[in-house]
Amino acid sequence: MEWKNNKVVMIDQTKLPGELVFVEYSDYNDVAKAIKTLIVRGAPAIGVSGAFGLALAGLQSKAITRDELISDMEIAKKILFETRPTAVNLAWGLEQIMNVAKNGYSVNEIKTSIVEMAKKMAEDDIKINMTMGKNGSVLFDNNDTIMTHCNAGSLATVAYGTALGVIRATKESGKIIKVIATETRPVQQGSRLTAFELKHDGFDVSLIPDTAVGYSMANKLVNKVVVGADRVLRTGHVYNKIGTYQVALIAKQHGIPFYVAAPLSTFDMKSNPQDVIIEQRKGTEVTQIGDRKTAPDGINVINPAFDMTPPELISGIITEAGVAKPPFVESIQKLFEANK
Ligand code: MRU
Repeated sequence: MEWKNNKVVMIDQTKLPGELVFVEYSDYNDVAKAIKTLIVRGAPAIGVSGAFGLALAGLQSKAITRDELISDMEIAKKILFETRPTAVNLAWGLEQIMNVAKNGYSVNEIKTSIVEMAKKMAEDDIKINMTMGKNGSVLFDNNDTIMTHCNAGSLATVAYGTALGVIRATKESGKIIKVIATETRPVQQGSRLTAFELKHDGFDVSLIPDTAVGYSMANKLVNKVVVGADRVLRTGHVYNKIGTYQVALIAKQHGIPFYVAAPLSTFDMKSNPQDVIIEQRKGTEVTQIGDRKTAPDGINVINPAFDMTPPELISGIITEAGVAKPPFVESIQKLFEANK
């Protein structure tokens, strides 16, 4: 994803792996639609998309005064924020832009500074992912087979990835590794995006149906797990793609280390588990594969997009500031203090 000639350019992830299509937006409402319909998805990617969207809103505004511009941007911020409720990066990205805007004195100054800030956030995302990758790579050994769930790769960020960034850095450090990607029903981020991304980049990657996680672990086909996150609480509760909890539970049963890779912008240090809204998505994601019906008409569907993995199932949380180990309340707090 990139900011180019005052437009937002991104890959339409709904078209992968069949077609590589780039879309271009100059209206923040289109960016909001792209986030909602998963044209862009993945916590850090929607954080930066939100920031880009709000910067577009600032440029689009016909405001004459500074206060009118701020008020137009507040309206856009609400529209962008309401697209997806679980990943905390979206609120974080919007807040960063809004803070810069509020510090500006004139319309022109604000318009320039919000674009600069949005571009800087995109650049920082890549640097953070590379640092996180290095920090995490020491946890993985030569000849490891690493399982990952959903897509926490280049596509889910500006580039390099979080969980896949750790996998990339492990390979770059000279270790020979294999990867197992889960399919990640119902939207298939694992088969459509992770398998595509890793195969494209020359990794030894195998795809499994979500239902084969237990089989793979029981038969020693995998010895470590790393996933991304949409929100991490100060207690170490991790919200990530639906199915992550099952992967963590089965890993615990088989004594397989389960790691999470997430930038500090994914941490929500204020909320408790009961405050976090799990996005519920439309039933057709479950009753159809593409346009083909796979369930009876009128069936009731429960389709949560995320679940919560409790801290006791997690071996470590990899960030750009270091790796937090249990007990997480203390170790996460320390990472934030060290990063001040
Ligand atoms: O619904 P999605 O595809 O946006 O969900 C994405 C995930 O759950 C990812 O694992 C998470 O955002 C981390 S991406 C670096």
